Amino acid sequence: MGKDKLRKFSEINEFSNVYQLEEGYANKGKWAQAHFKNENPLVLELACGKGEYALGMARIYPDKNYMGLDLKGNRIWRGAKSGMEENITNLAFLRIQIEDILDYFGPAEVAEIWITFADPQPRESREKKRLTSSIFIEKYRQILKPGGKINLKTDNDMLYHYTLDKIAELNLVLHKSTADLYQSDLVDDVLSIKTHYENIYLKKQKNINYVQFSLS
Ligand SMILES: C[S@@+](CC[C@H](N)C(=O)[O-])C[C@H]1O[C@@H](n2cnc3c(N)ncnc32)[C@H](O)[C@@H]1O
Repeated sequence: MGKDKLRKFSEINEFSNVYQLEEGYANKGKWAQAHFKNENPLVLELACGKGEYALGMARIYPDKNYMGLDLKGNRIWRGAKSGMEENITNLAFLRIQIEDILDYFGPAEVAEIWITFADPQPRESREKKRLTSSIFIEKYRQILKPGGKINLKTDNDMLYHYTLDKIAELNLVLHKSTADLYQSDLVDDVLSIKTHYENIYLKKQKNINYVQFSLS
């Protein structure tokens, strides 16, 4: 591991807005009270990388709590550092495998989920690893409030169509979808937030897909 990555890894150990692996167990079911010290709704950004969505939304909506989840500590470092420098108290990060999400959140604890430019896992043999596969949807069902929305923003056309098919197959509720977000009339303050990977795709003139759905 490079020196910079090692430094970031050791720094996030000390950050009060970052929980790593089993450090997060104790807050299962009570993040609002235990970490955020309020009763506000909890919104998750999955595969958050540097956490641009969690950070951007936390700035816009101080009356909601935001958490970014990713396995890579050196990426989480960026969002967590910005959150601390700006004194944003409604933002935290959890470094975990998203597969283990049920170990960290309780029934109906989560108001909304954002999945931002997740790895598309194009190989059929990795289908179960897609963050909108049936396996993950069933996990989200256990932690989302009734009617809680799931938002997927992706450059990957296959993952977009796979998610639309999954919504139909599982009889989920489709709220919004577009294969070309910036040519659509859906863009607002939140959907205008751009992540590190999104900026790379936009430079290559890639269309950005967006879908919003709920489980009931
Ligand atoms: C393509 S990057 C997108 C990062 C960020 N959302 C962005 O748009 O810039 C995908 C991220 O998902 C994370 N990731 C992929 N699979 C994961 C998993 N199963 N659990 C936790 N993080 C995962 C990776 O570490 C990586 O940071």
